[in-house]
Amino acid sequence: MKDEFLKLVDAACETRLRSYSPYSNFRVGAALLGKSGAVHHGTNVENASFGLSICAERSAIFRAVAEGETDFTAIAICADGTAPTLPCGACRQVLVEFGPDLTVLVAGDKGSGGEILQFSLGELLPHAFETFVDNIAPEADGQGESS
Ligand code: THU
Repeated sequence: MKDEFLKLVDAACETRLRSYSPYSNFRVGAALLGKSGAVHHGTNVENASFGLSICAERSAIFRAVAEGETDFTAIAICADGTAPTLPCGACRQVLVEFGPDLTVLVAGDKGSGGEILQFSLGELLPHAFETFVDNIAPEADGQGESS
């Protein structure tokens, strides 16, 4: 695996240590490599109202967008435990908004020293929902209106 990707995995593992996860005690870190070369970090941030918690992957992407980056090469995800943790469905959908070619690297807490799985986002989320605009009736020509 490319050195750049191994470094990204280790960056995700380091970010994982800053996770705010007092309810699950399951720490997750994400490191998102932008085409600018910048690395955007995210952790899971939990809440006493459990449903308001956010995953590390979405933290990273929202942060990157706020910093002005919307083109990405790869995301590394590093979670507690030796087995690699795959991104949840909600995070896959949020990531695919920025393109299915994203490389997804998943690792356990040994980082680059342990097992790393590599996928493309398109492999993890085939047939993704992309847009509704082709499916709505045009209003300009009066279609869909009752007379
Ligand atoms: N979690 C992530 O941060 N990313 C994932 O892909 C899966 C789950 C977090 C959410 C929650 O804070 C904890 O892991 C347990 O589900």
